[in-house]
Amino acid sequence: MPIRSIIKFLFIATFVLTAFDFLSFHSFAASENRCLVCHMNIEKNKKNIHPALKKGCETCHVTEKDLEHPKHNKSMKLLYDLPELCYKCHKEANFKGKRRHSPVVKGQCNICHNSHSSDSVKLLVSDAPELCYKCHDKKKFERKYVHTVALHNCFRRCHNPHANDNPFRLLMPVNEICVTCHRNQETGNHIATLPGGYIHPMSGVSDPKKPSKEMTCASCHNPHSSSFAKLFYSKGKCKRCHKYY
Ligand code: HEC
Ligand code: HEC
Ligand code: HEC
Ligand code: HEC
Ligand code: HEC
Ligand code: HEC
Ligand code: HEC
Ligand code: HEC
Repeated sequence: MPIRSIIKFLFIATFVLTAFDFLSFHSFAASENRCLVCHMNIEKNKKNIHPALKKGCETCHVTEKDLEHPKHNKSMKLLYDLPELCYKCHKEANFKGKRRHSPVVKGQCNICHNSHSSDSVKLLVSDAPELCYKCHDKKKFERKYVHTVALHNCFRRCHNPHANDNPFRLLMPVNEICVTCHRNQETGNHIATLPGGYIHPMSGVSDPKKPSKEMTCASCHNPHSSSFAKLFYSKGKCKRCHKYY
């Protein structure tokens, strides 16, 4: 085929495909939702769509009385403020507990979630842990040795993002969380071979560094990142708590 025919073919093909895309989207938009005629990017090309959108935009947005949209500024308002709007369909009890995350208390659901659609799971505006670094100092999580896999699972394996009754909003006691991935370190045998068959405690005694707290895996290893290998808090792995070894 001569070059000119190829170019002509490509040109027509592009035109037809674009027109098809445009028409098919508009026939959907016009028949199902008049708002989408102008706000077509709300859910287009997104992996996950909020099921609430199926009930219509008016489930959450209403036009101010006597104001025409979009002719007038501020012609659209939310039916209820956040977080009440979300609690109309999502059980408020799931966002209550002794330890509530500050943005949840403030009703800032939309700092983490897009109300319409998203390419991330659970309508998140970005993936964890980047999402969390919007407010939490990245430096503490990016020291020389990073616990990468655990950080990418921060809310799936370790923390509830909204609220619960546990310290740090952990999903389970610390040691149980850690051994789901580290079966081989389930006992104190991994710490050191000690005289007389003594097995080093990992719970049930108080943490010498934080006497009000019980000792856990996190008494010796930083769960996020560390300047020292094996995520130790300090260079001397025993010196943190013992004088002589
Ligand atoms: C004729 C086109 C058109 C239609 C139809 C339309 N909008 Fe809009 N909408 C606009 C424009 C233009 C803006 C202003 C955009 C901007 O400021 O970035 C806007 C802004 C908005 C805003 C933001 C308002 C604000 O003050 O922050 C919301 C919410 C909104 N529209 C919802 C809706 C809903 C819900 C519908 C259907 C009931 C709808 N729109 C129908 C054109 C339209
Ligand atoms: C589940 C409730 C809910 C539904 C359903 C919903 N929205 Fe929204 N929308 C919101 C919230 C919450 C905001 C954010 C307001 C803010 O950030 O201050 C918002 C913001 C907007 C904005 C302005 C900011 C932006 O993202 O561009 C537009 C435009 C908009 N919505 C249009 C629509 C349209 C069109 C539909 C229907 C296809 C729709 N919304 C359905 C809750 C909803
Ligand atoms: C009109 C009802 C309705 C409202 C209002 C509503 N949602 Fe939803 N939402 C749903 C339904 C239905 C689902 C799917 C079932 C479920 O996960 O509960 C859902 C699912 C979700 C999901 C999980 C999505 C997924 O992929 O699993 C998130 C996150 C979410 N909503 C956030 C919000 C936020 C934030 C608000 C307030 C701005 C809100 N919703 C308001 C009906 C609603
Ligand atoms: C700090 C970020 C953050 C804030 C603020 C936040 N969420 Fe979430 N939300 C998440 C994360 C992360 C998940 C995913 C949790 C999971 O998969 O276990 C989630 C999941 C959800 C789900 C889906 C739950 C399920 O079991 O599928 C809903 C619904 C939801 N959030 C609603 C809200 C509402 C309503 C608010 C405001 C009161 C809110 N979120 C505030 C981060 C946040
Ligand atoms: C909008 C800002 C914001 C975002 C985004 C955010 N946080 Fe927070 N977070 C805070 C604030 C403020 C505090 C301190 C007050 C408190 O405990 O609620 C906090 C505290 C915490 C705590 C300590 C709780 C305690 O009891 O000491 C944990 C754990 C936590 N956040 C995890 C996360 C995770 C995981 C994410 C990402 C999914 C995240 N945060 C995203 C603002 C945020
Ligand atoms: C989701 C699975 C997962 C969870 C939960 C988890 N880890 Fe890890 N951990 C890993 C993986 C995978 C590695 C190796 C790669 C890396 O560093 O990310 C690792 C590495 C480590 C290392 C460093 C090993 C070395 O050779 O340097 C230590 C120490 C550690 N984890 C301790 C813990 C502690 C303590 C907890 C609980 C607070 C925990 N882990 C929870 C998956 C996990
Ligand atoms: C009293 C301090 C202490 C406690 C508590 C502790 N560890 Fe360790 N951990 C160590 C020491 C010391 C080593 C290094 C052993 C060596 O390489 O000589 C280590 C090594 C590791 C390693 C790296 C193993 C490898 O292959 O190099 C992982 C993973 C680990 N611990 C996970 C855990 C988990 C999970 C818990 C809780 C169930 C835990 N640790 C509790 C001191 C501790
Ligand atoms: C986070 C603090 C911590 C670290 C780090 C730590 N230990 Fe311990 N160790 C303890 C606690 C707590 C006990 C229990 C004391 C008790 O039962 O009264 C203990 C008990 C012991 C005992 C029993 C005798 C004694 O002195 O009480 C030996 C031996 C021991 N540890 C060796 C080690 C060695 C070797 C390391 C380094 C590989 C190490 N420990 C790291 C906190 C720690």
